[in-house]
Amino acid sequence: MSKPKVVITRRIPDTALRMIEVKANVFIWDYEDVPIPRDILLKECREASGIFTNVGDLIDHQLFENSPKLKVVSTMAVGFDNIDIQEATKRGIRVGHTPGILSETTADLTFALLMATARRIVEATDYIKEGKWKSWSPMLLTGQDVYGAVIGIIGMGRIGEGVARRALGFGMKILYHNRNRLPDTEEKLNTSYRSLDDLVKESDYVVMLAPSTPETYKMIGERELALMKPNAIFINASRGTNVDENALYSALKEKRIWAAGLDVFENEPLSSQHPLMSLPNVLATPHIGSATISTRTKMAVLTSQNLLLGLEDKPLIHCVNFNSQDSTTLV
Ligand code: GLV
Repeated sequence: MSKPKVVITRRIPDTALRMIEVKANVFIWDYEDVPIPRDILLKECREASGIFTNVGDLIDHQLFENSPKLKVVSTMAVGFDNIDIQEATKRGIRVGHTPGILSETTADLTFALLMATARRIVEATDYIKEGKWKSWSPMLLTGQDVYGAVIGIIGMGRIGEGVARRALGFGMKILYHNRNRLPDTEEKLNTSYRSLDDLVKESDYVVMLAPSTPETYKMIGERELALMKPNAIFINASRGTNVDENALYSALKEKRIWAAGLDVFENEPLSSQHPLMSLPNVLATPHIGSATISTRTKMAVLTSQNLLLGLEDKPLIHCVNFNSQDSTTLV
């Protein structure tokens, strides 16, 4: 029997690639930095039974329509907002993702963004590199305190919990907002629930970790930014669509809030010419929340495992739209 065809949309670690090559004929878009062009994706998927996809690839109605043999879409991410899940489900196509294994790594990056923004670490490094350091000065590059401050976490999932655990070590008062209240988490992590308005009013650090859904679209907009304290720092490590970037730009430019640390943007990759990048009080990273060698390798292997199970019509380890092997998978 001939092997099924699999399309892989980016260069992936060798271990993960070899797992697939044993069982399938692989087309791989073997470039790290260049997304697969849409016409090539559509053409290659025409005969494909499986797709190993990545953040930013649009897996939509047109692609499903164009790929009659498709059984499984396996994304190397926890988020799946780039995939039309309803359409996949209608067609009986399983969608796999990689929750859990990236939570601590992403919580590390979120906290690193918070610390680096509060203490202006990138600006401070540039200050030396640019030859500006002439003397010790009492108010030079002064930032905001982290220890003992109030952190407000929007979206208390696994990553949010990881950030809350880190915040506990920094003596922070922890507030959270979530689509439903979590009494166990409140007790375990000494966190208090707030409405979104109260959370943004009371927090020194507003940390966005909610998934991208119709309910969270531009959840932080002009109104919420206007409620924040002048010393507030906004951190986003979830999805760029959760914030109104124009409103954020104005609030930062007019110093109505103090700074922002952003790992995600409405349109990625973000251009260096984007207005946000002209502001000294913006610290930005290119969507690297889960980017450690170990975590990205584990994610690639899990994505391959989900993919191979889907090719064999078996339950995936973590499936978004049908039963999983792991009953703890959150949809
Ligand atoms: C990355 O953003 C992910 O969803 O894993």
